[in-house]
Amino acid sequence: MATGRDLDPAPRRLTDAIVRAGPTGITAKQLADRARLAPERVEHHLRALAAERSIVRHGRGLWSLARYAGGLGVGARDPAFYAAAFRRDFGVALSAAPTEIRFGPNERRPVHRWWPYVQGFSAGWVEAVLRRYGVGPGSVVLDPFCGSGTVPVVARSVGATAIGTDLMPIAAFVARAKLAWEVPPGEFRAAVDRVLARRGAPRAPLPFLRETRRQFSPSVLARLRVLRESIGAEPEDGPGTLLRLAFSGILIDASRLKRSPCLGYAEKPRQDTTTPDRLLRARAETIAGDLEALGARRATWGPPGTIHLGSASTVPIPAGSVDLAVTSPPYVNGMDYVMNYKIDLAWMGFVRSYAELAALRAAMVACDNIPRSVAAGHHPSASVRGDPWLGDIAREIDRNIRRKGTYRRADMARVVTKYFDDLVPTIRAVYRALRPGGRFVVVNGDSLIAGTYVPGDLLFARLGAHAGFSVESAEVARSRRSGQRRGFELRETILTLRKPAAGVARK
Ligand SMILES: C[S@@+](CC[C@H](N)C(=O)[O-])C[C@H]1O[C@@H](n2cnc3c(N)ncnc32)[C@H](O)[C@@H]1O
Repeated sequence: MATGRDLDPAPRRLTDAIVRAGPTGITAKQLADRARLAPERVEHHLRALAAERSIVRHGRGLWSLARYAGGLGVGARDPAFYAAAFRRDFGVALSAAPTEIRFGPNERRPVHRWWPYVQGFSAGWVEAVLRRYGVGPGSVVLDPFCGSGTVPVVARSVGATAIGTDLMPIAAFVARAKLAWEVPPGEFRAAVDRVLARRGAPRAPLPFLRETRRQFSPSVLARLRVLRESIGAEPEDGPGTLLRLAFSGILIDASRLKRSPCLGYAEKPRQDTTTPDRLLRARAETIAGDLEALGARRATWGPPGTIHLGSASTVPIPAGSVDLAVTSPPYVNGMDYVMNYKIDLAWMGFVRSYAELAALRAAMVACDNIPRSVAAGHHPSASVRGDPWLGDIAREIDRNIRRKGTYRRADMARVVTKYFDDLVPTIRAVYRALRPGGRFVVVNGDSLIAGTYVPGDLLFARLGAHAGFSVESAEVARSRRSGQRRGFELRETILTLRKPAAGVARK
């Protein structure tokens, strides 16, 4: 018997639009446009369909049929499919090895706490890896995506020689400054006193970012400009390096922003002109105290190490010279580092215009904010074209986006392909730099993109195998939730790749 609802074509149009969106899901606003319905009517019908459990709502307000509650379409390849295929191909099972790999605990650890790099990984975990592989005085350790320098700092602390590379100038600067252990704490404290004693003009020019006046209260902004000018007048090396580090490390705390982990506005207590001084003094005191403690262990330090500002794939490192490489690359569909650190980049003068910000983003491992022209101009390499997983994934992303009609960006499959292609030269460079038998330990994660599961961790291992590495292990350190589907479990995995020992033929 026909009911009132059957006679009303609106729910039908709505359901059709939801079916067409498939596992990718669709927002209420998109549904209103697609089904040509007023937003209130859409909300009303969505509530009714959800009550009868025909549809489900995911994370940020995406609606899909209830059978896609787990996030993937029927027949779509899920994590279990890839784990089984990986085991078949490499004889390596994805094992669970709960480990704290996040940056959080570093905020209490000497030196690591000098600068808040939320995307860093845990120093405790890096120490354990170095211990496990017998790294000590005389060893050489490389991190090709060194970020704030967690690996180089740990390597130096156990007596090893550290090499790091990062393309983002603020990260390379922070990593270098965190290795400046020779600075006498007394000289650093005197420099901090000199800077904090400065009042009034001259002030550093405002950074080029359009929102600077919104990001800081007027009194905080005025004081920060005086401090910046005063720090700029100090020599760049020695205590001056650590002054710059301390100043850049307080910018977000002094602003109306937070990073958690993405940059955004925050509810914060009122800040006044004393805020920058208080924050700078506290951070400088932490650094000076850590320098004193470090000084007592001077005999155990390794050499100062080298941090290169540049692409991980092009930095010249002698072939066969590295004992162990440890890294965490950007994740597929992950952070836009340039956007997240634009305040620090601009205030410290590393980037002077929006055009320079865009150029830096285009040079980094691809994130989903790269310009369309960069994605369009990318031609997949043979390694990526030759990987059947990647081909299938790219096709499924395209199919899902076409079925849904709209997505954040229609060229997402290209972005994903470019991401993996951007990793290939670095994997090859690390292979070349490692001594025979040396290991490459990598933390990487998976992702859900346009309703398509992308095993970024296992794909990294596959590209590693293509470059000549053997895959020793793939251990899941932690699970995390997909930003698109709160119910869909993603993971972070520790991969251990090994360069064949001398005399073992490369497959
Ligand atoms: C996950 S973070 C590494 C964090 C680091 N493990 C730490 O503890 O601070 C990844 C880093 O890769 C850098 N990066 C992105 N593309 C790069 C490229 N092509 N060459 C070198 N570094 C790059 C980013 O700037 C970022 O600092």
